[in-house]
Amino acid sequence: MPRPRVFIAREIPQEAVEKINSSCLVDTWNSREPPSREALLDGVRDADGVLCSLSERIDSELMDSAPRIRVVSNMAVGYDNVDVPEATRRRIPIGNTPGVLTETTADLAFGLMLACARKIVEGDSVVRAGKWRYWDPLGFLGEDVHGATLGIIGFGKIGVAVAKRARGFGMRIIYYDIARRPDTERELGVEFASLEKLLSESDFVTIHTDLNPKTRHLIGAENLALMKKTSILVNTARGPIVDTSALYEALKRGDIRGAALDVTEPEPLPPTHPILSLDNVVVTPHIASGSRATRTKMAMLAADNLLAGLEGKRLPSCVNPEVYGTG
Ligand code: GLV
Repeated sequence: MPRPRVFIAREIPQEAVEKINSSCLVDTWNSREPPSREALLDGVRDADGVLCSLSERIDSELMDSAPRIRVVSNMAVGYDNVDVPEATRRRIPIGNTPGVLTETTADLAFGLMLACARKIVEGDSVVRAGKWRYWDPLGFLGEDVHGATLGIIGFGKIGVAVAKRARGFGMRIIYYDIARRPDTERELGVEFASLEKLLSESDFVTIHTDLNPKTRHLIGAENLALMKKTSILVNTARGPIVDTSALYEALKRGDIRGAALDVTEPEPLPPTHPILSLDNVVVTPHIASGSRATRTKMAMLAADNLLAGLEGKRLPSCVNPEVYGTG
């Protein structure tokens, strides 16, 4: 049997490349920058499988350019970059990497909440700029995280991991999701709330849902208006869940106190974006899963998905199990 050909569309941890190399002919995109669309289409042309990241758009055009493709392995838990119905129609399994990044992502969400509430980034800039001249009883006053009410939108694995951290901070925790989780509610002492109630009662609102047509711009002008004037919005899920222009207006008017975003729309956020002119905003460059250990685990799971697909086996983590007929 000839070795399958695979295209690895990004530089990824070496361990995963070695694993794939042991049974495949590998073509890797050799740059930290993402491939251009042309380079991506060219890379997949003769490939039996592709390992990509959330930056690569995997749509019908790409699938047409890759007539031999029989598996797409996305090194991310989110897969809004992939046209899943189209892949399913073509019986191409799509892999993703849930679970391994849960705790690391929850760490960053919590870190962003603290950073924004306690003005950590703003304080650091002042020190670096040589403007720290005296201790000021009224300087850099932020919001307490401990004892505050945390609203979690999307109570999947990451939302639950954030709730566990919040318990240690003595927070009241409420959540909104399309499905209720009564066992977890009891176990963690978390309450279910409507989205409206969550937005109007929370001191911190943190987003952990996926991006889909129902969640696109879920947090827009109308829902921002329901939030408390003292509240802080945290987004580590997907940028387009929040309407960035509406958020900018709300922050500028003082309708909410701050925002901490690891994901934005657009992404990357241009340095000239008006939201970056505001002191009460912390932005990180989509790094929630970015610990050394977790990125290696994600790459290894992505490699396992890829290799299983090439061998015609069920992917360890498949987003469209319908391709296997019985689901
Ligand atoms: C990162 O954003 C992911 O979906 O894994």
